[in-house]
Amino acid sequence: MAPTNLIIALAGIGAAAVLRVLYWAAQFVVYHFWRSSKPLTAYKRVGTDAYALVTGASAGIGLSIARELVRQGFGVVLLGHLPDELAAAAKSLNSPRVRTLVVNARTATPEHISGAVKSISDLNISILINNVGGFPLADPPLRSLNTLTTAEVDAHVDLNARFMARLTNLMLPLLAASKKQTNERSLVLNMSSAGRVGMPWIVMYSATKGFNYSFSMALSRELEDDPATAHIDCLVAVLGEVQSQSNVMAEGAITADVFGSYVVGGIDGAVSRKWREVRPYWGHDLQIGLMDRILPESMLTHFAREELREKKNRWDAIMAKRR
Ligand SMILES: NC(=O)c1ccc[n+]([C@@H]2O[C@H](COP(=O)([O-])OP(=O)(O)OC[C@H]3O[C@@H](n4cnc5c(N)ncnc54)[C@H](OP(=O)(O)O)[C@@H]3O)[C@@H](O)[C@H]2O)c1
Ligand SMILES: *[C@@H]1O[C@H](CO)[C@@H](O)[C@H](O)[C@H]1NC(C)=O
Ligand SMILES: *[C@@H]1O[C@H](CO)[C@@H](O)[C@H](O)[C@H]1NC(C)=O
Ligand SMILES: *[C@@H]1O[C@H](CO)[C@@H](O)[C@H](O)[C@H]1NC(C)=O
Repeated sequence: MAPTNLIIALAGIGAAAVLRVLYWAAQFVVYHFWRSSKPLTAYKRVGTDAYALVTGASAGIGLSIARELVRQGFGVVLLGHLPDELAAAAKSLNSPRVRTLVVNARTATPEHISGAVKSISDLNISILINNVGGFPLADPPLRSLNTLTTAEVDAHVDLNARFMARLTNLMLPLLAASKKQTNERSLVLNMSSAGRVGMPWIVMYSATKGFNYSFSMALSRELEDDPATAHIDCLVAVLGEVQSQSNVMAEGAITADVFGSYVVGGIDGAVSRKWREVRPYWGHDLQIGLMDRILPESMLTHFAREELREKKNRWDAIMAKRR
């Protein structure tokens, strides 16, 4: 190649790279900072109330999402395992269209889950938020895999993967049936985590978050293929750190209280762009985008290890004090 041709070729590649970054930056700004003041209209129902089922809704991110859905005119069904906490959460929403379902997501039998679903089959449910999840093991939550009991290994799968799979399976017919008009849609939203990339000392948590992630991707590709279910949108939300009762060490991170409005506000933009994955909060989007696309494996491992090691050390210090 003559030198001038080489220069032209290199300039072309450079320009394409710059355009890609500019396009990404424009998308980022438009998606995160131009949000509708009337979100989720496609999931409302003409002439009747539309309901959302939110799991793990007695506290944290789940309750925050439920509160925002009520504010947007939806009825909500709150699912949780502690009756008193659940009742208090329902009362705090201050709406006549709130129901509760007492179900332990870790231990529920198939009969119990199908009974719970039947008990709400009179409602027109257009949204399922699979939020319940976490670290079902004795403190400290950050430790190496070989210190977990077999029961603790299983508990992660039960709480974070098995329950949502069973519930989604049983809820799909209700979500499909609540559509009465052509432009009405339904939604399944799962909570995954930045931990899905594979974090040390939370191996089971990371792995079950990865299960969610693939499950969502696969299901959304499947649903859109069948005309009977093509109106059910499927999204997986990927979050970074949120301060909540299960993540008390996330100092400086966004609080669960305000996080729900980012989730609710971020759905329409993601669905209209045909995304299967959504990062509803811009801070997490930047951080996860960096992790997924830009950092080479060696740096990713370094940062994941340093961050988790620091948290693990703090937990170990707390445990030492308790002893
Ligand atoms: N916080 C973060 O930094 C973060 C980051 C990435 C992903 N996430 C994900 O986001 C979701 C919500 O997290 P969060 O921080 O809001 O958690 P959280 O504050 O611990 O809240 C979890 C909710 O689930 C309920 N729950 C716990 N165990 C249950 C069980 N066995 N059966 C039924 N309900 C149960 C809790 O009820 P009780 O209060 O009654 O126990 C609570 O309402 C989880 O899937 C989590 O993995 C969180
Ligand atoms: C569900 O919607 C139908 C009409 O589409 C309505 O007749 C019925 O009352 C609704 N159910 C509830 C519990 O609101
Ligand atoms: C998988 O999804 C469920 C429901 O969305 C979520 O609560 C759970 O935490 C997820 N798995 C993990 C490991 O977090
Ligand atoms: C959510 O996860 C459950 C179980 O992992 C799966 O059945 C469902 O298809 C997923 N849905 C979405 C939208 O990701």
